[in-house]
Amino acid sequence: MSEIEVRPITESDLASLDKRVARRFLGTLDGQHEMLVGLLNGVPAGSVLIGGPKRDRFPDALYLFALDVDTRYQNLGVGTALIAAVEKKTRRRGLSRVNLEVGETNGDARRLYERLGYVLCGEAEWDSWTAHREDGTEFEEGEMCVPMVKELE
Ligand SMILES: CC(C)(COP(=O)(O)OP(=O)(O)OC[C@H]1O[C@@H](n2cnc3c(N)ncnc32)[C@H](O)[C@@H]1OP(=O)(O)O)[C@@H](O)C(=O)NCCC(=O)NCCS
Repeated sequence: MSEIEVRPITESDLASLDKRVARRFLGTLDGQHEMLVGLLNGVPAGSVLIGGPKRDRFPDALYLFALDVDTRYQNLGVGTALIAAVEKKTRRRGLSRVNLEVGETNGDARRLYERLGYVLCGEAEWDSWTAHREDGTEFEEGEMCVPMVKELE
């Protein structure tokens, strides 16, 4: 049986994760965002970032973003466990919602969020961010994303 654990990420987890994830970790060092890692039988398999409410859509929400599970470990429950951990953190802080944005054409992620109780809460908007090539150089990337929210019980 697979065992899944979620905890705050540490620098020693990065060696097993994709370079993109390591860059995201460096971006958390300014203290603006938190990052959790999901371990599958002790091996770092995925991660998620948590930040303040984006675009002030909801004042009482935690914002979940950059959910990412290594393709080798997908469909084993790691993504679900990472989302559950963000929801637990949200409740502990006395907040009542989790909000996120998902690519309009990202059917797999959208289906997962819907199964977990997330609902659409607005129109699709263009979202852009800085991405990195293999050689470390930056470029701007973007896609149409839809906002989703879950009201926690
Ligand atoms: C979207 C993503 C994070 C999901 O992660 P994951 O670890 O595969 O998610 P889970 O395993 O928890 O759930 C995925 C599916 O596996 C199923 N599943 C969950 N636990 C399972 C288990 N123990 N055994 C088999 N299947 C399982 C779920 O029912 C779910 O099915 P569904 O797609 O029909 O809803 C992952 O596919 C990913 O990293 N994609 C690329 C990046 C991305 O799109 N991120 C989202 C940005 S908004």
